[in-house]
Amino acid sequence: MPTTHPPNTGTAALVAGRVKEKMSTPTAPRAIPAVSGPAVSGPADSGPADSGPTVSGPTDSVSRPGWIALFSRFMSQDSAPGRVRAHLETLVARGRPGDRLPSVRELMSQLGVSPTTVRAAVAELIRSGTVETVPGRGTFVAAPSRRRARSGDRAWQTLALGSTITGEDLLAPLRATPTPDTIDLAGGYPHPGLYPDSLITRALRRAVRRPGVLGRAPVEGIAPLREWFAEQLGPDGGHRVLITPGGQAALSLIFRSLALTGDTVLMESPTYVGAVGAARAAGLVPVPVPMDDQGVLAEGLAAAVDRTGGRILYIQPRFHNPTGATLAPERRPAVMDLARRHGLIVVEDDWLHDLDDPWHRQEPLAADDPDGHVVHVRSLTKSISPAVRIAAVSAAGAIFERIRATRSVEDFFVSPIMQETALDVVTDPAWPRHLERLRSRLAERQELLRDGLEAIGVDPRSVTGGPLHLWMASPRGLDPDELRVAALRNGVSVVSGTSWYPGDVPCGNIRLSNAAGPGAEITVGLERLGRAVDQLSA
Ligand SMILES: Cc1ncc(COP(=O)(O)O)c(C=O)c1O
Repeated sequence: MPTTHPPNTGTAALVAGRVKEKMSTPTAPRAIPAVSGPAVSGPADSGPADSGPTVSGPTDSVSRPGWIALFSRFMSQDSAPGRVRAHLETLVARGRPGDRLPSVRELMSQLGVSPTTVRAAVAELIRSGTVETVPGRGTFVAAPSRRRARSGDRAWQTLALGSTITGEDLLAPLRATPTPDTIDLAGGYPHPGLYPDSLITRALRRAVRRPGVLGRAPVEGIAPLREWFAEQLGPDGGHRVLITPGGQAALSLIFRSLALTGDTVLMESPTYVGAVGAARAAGLVPVPVPMDDQGVLAEGLAAAVDRTGGRILYIQPRFHNPTGATLAPERRPAVMDLARRHGLIVVEDDWLHDLDDPWHRQEPLAADDPDGHVVHVRSLTKSISPAVRIAAVSAAGAIFERIRATRSVEDFFVSPIMQETALDVVTDPAWPRHLERLRSRLAERQELLRDGLEAIGVDPRSVTGGPLHLWMASPRGLDPDELRVAALRNGVSVVSGTSWYPGDVPCGNIRLSNAAGPGAEITVGLERLGRAVDQLSA
């Protein structure tokens, strides 16, 4: 079937005939091939019969909207290749992937342009993934996956979104993955060499063979994993367990479930920057509560409650991040007393539960919480691997129900494969040995890190820390943000403490991780940091 042409009208002829490509281009009006309508004609003369249908135009009148659109489009094209491209784009928009487009010869005669012009336009469309050519067969509409997205004007999104706070800016430095030659003294997870690889591999293999594991799971999580977490929490105080994909997701879920936009959340100062970010993202207002090396100060907490009327306290009673402080046993009753008197919800982030010595560790606050004030969060990502993203939220009564309800609308359930894997790992007889080994490796690395600090200008009296990190005044009083940047230039990443304060308290601290690579890496990392310190203080 021949390719059809639109009728010549005065307007169309004038427009098409006026544009001169070059002196040799005919000035006589020429018909432009039709593009509107769904018509797909048979193969044209330049291609074999089996090379797919050719997209061409309808035979009906110029008054069709497609024609008008096409002509106005052509009018706006100020170059000959631009006109050819626009014509082909219209055909592509109306065709289907694999439809054959007019040949070079056809386009030359239809549009009155030279072969060079047609080839330039086609080359541009190939680059943008709009069309494909098959040598000897012709040019075809490309599959949508090959077409590159064209970015238009998205300024409207600024107005539509307004000034939402995501908290993302606070977490960005934590999530940054260092380049392969950067030594990571900023990381929050143990070095990959410390993961229980063989336990995880074995558990994954067994997990995928369990009946029903490739299906759905309850919103709360699979029963045996919840029971394991509940038993670990201690004597049954009526707490129920819900599984989440990691501790960060748990914090975010809790803040969104239990508070309304504009509510206060009381937080130790400093505190985990991810909790500050999650609270801000939930529209909450973090309010700092003073602490020292024994944890939160009860008088400070009482004053903050009086002043703000805040109902939610976020606290890390074990190995507080970043200071490493553990809440002194004599302060625990005072905190729980305040919770009872003022009706506080205590969000207990027990993020390093597994890295505490099982023979001497303090019970979580949630272990003695008959009135249901405590929401306990325990994550396995530091002790198994960040990729096995499993954490548990334990709470009682209506608080648990509220959290469960929120979870059910945000994400139906955590993958049963991950839950079964985590359960298999923590119930493996080799699990306690893994934890013991992890604790001792981390302790060795920490000693190495501590020993090298004075040489780079850190005041040893300022150093505190938990199993994964040390927290200290920035060497020689340097600005921690500037030091972080200079350190990166020297090939070592460190955390600046400036964002770790829920209020605006100025801070001159940095955090160094002993979770990085083996000892040699820590030594080289410290040397590089020392160089950065020298450069900044020169
Ligand atoms: C104090 C604290 N809580 C919670 C988390 C969240 O960890 P994840 O989401 O990997 O369980 C972190 C991560 O570093 C943390 O430091």
